[in-house]
Amino acid sequence: MPPILARARCTLAWTAVALGCLAAGPAAAQNAYPNHPITLVVPFAAGGPTDVVARSLGAAMSKTLGQSIVIENRTGAGGTLASTHVARAAPDGYTFLIHHNGMATAPALYRKLPYDPLKDFDYVGQVADVPMTLLGRKDLPAADMPAFIKYAREKGDKVNLANAGLGAVSQLCGMLLQEALGTQFTTVPYAGTAPALTALLGGQVDVLCDQTTQTIPHIKAERVKLYGVTTLDRIKALPDAPTLQESGLKGFEVKVWHGVYAPKGTPPEAIAKFNAALRAGLKDPAFRQKMADLGAEIVPESKQTPAGLQTWLQSEVNKWGPIIRKAGVYAD
Ligand code: MLT
Repeated sequence: MPPILARARCTLAWTAVALGCLAAGPAAAQNAYPNHPITLVVPFAAGGPTDVVARSLGAAMSKTLGQSIVIENRTGAGGTLASTHVARAAPDGYTFLIHHNGMATAPALYRKLPYDPLKDFDYVGQVADVPMTLLGRKDLPAADMPAFIKYAREKGDKVNLANAGLGAVSQLCGMLLQEALGTQFTTVPYAGTAPALTALLGGQVDVLCDQTTQTIPHIKAERVKLYGVTTLDRIKALPDAPTLQESGLKGFEVKVWHGVYAPKGTPPEAIAKFNAALRAGLKDPAFRQKMADLGAEIVPESKQTPAGLQTWLQSEVNKWGPIIRKAGVYAD
């Protein structure tokens, strides 16, 4: 259905619910939003870092909503297929998207992006910030970051760098890393960093920059080589891990942030309820403990709002556009 018809259908449906509430009294409770499961679209593979945040958050939010949140993994084109899908979905309060920095980097990375992150969505709020880790396969002949810098500069495009496609944070981190090292690796894209990490564990690729929400258990089990964390300061969840800036890449910083979006035109009542459930979910002790164990930090309350996400997204679009255009990385 064309978005404009979907929107009209949706407005009518919500009006009918409102009239039903006035006319039918207690029966209206049956119509109250949400009255069936809600879909939360994840732009990357199941089991990966975005999926981990989405599933934990969905479980916490469903306690408030009284309905389950069904996770739908729509992978491809560095997250832009999922964003396109949600931008065109019926704005009926039953389809949402969780996405990260890729929402802000895609406009510079894709010359023909079929949606505008600043115009085609309604905003629910931000979730959590997550550090990244630079990992090597277990048998890579470079014991630490200084040794990896030397190795990378010597081997150049013989080094295989996995990522989750243009628009993924693993791509962003890899792009900044190659620029900082003055090298060009061979890039191997996957549908998410879950399959990319599987390839690293199997020794099919050499290096991966990935979020702590997926990598910490593998680092602790020593299944990979950890070269460093991408934050300016060391992180609580991996206190012994040096930052990349400590190891010579001065000012190197990539932090992953997450936002929840709805198709433009979603009824404000649905956004308000979903946002209230988001804020309650971010206070949920089990969710908070899981995020802390995986190195993620819940955002302050000012960012957990539609306006907080919208302002942040605009600032990130402004920040990354010039950096990406300067790097000359894009898809036609
Ligand atoms: C994932 O969930 O697979 C990652 O967030 C992909 C990425 O952005 O690197």
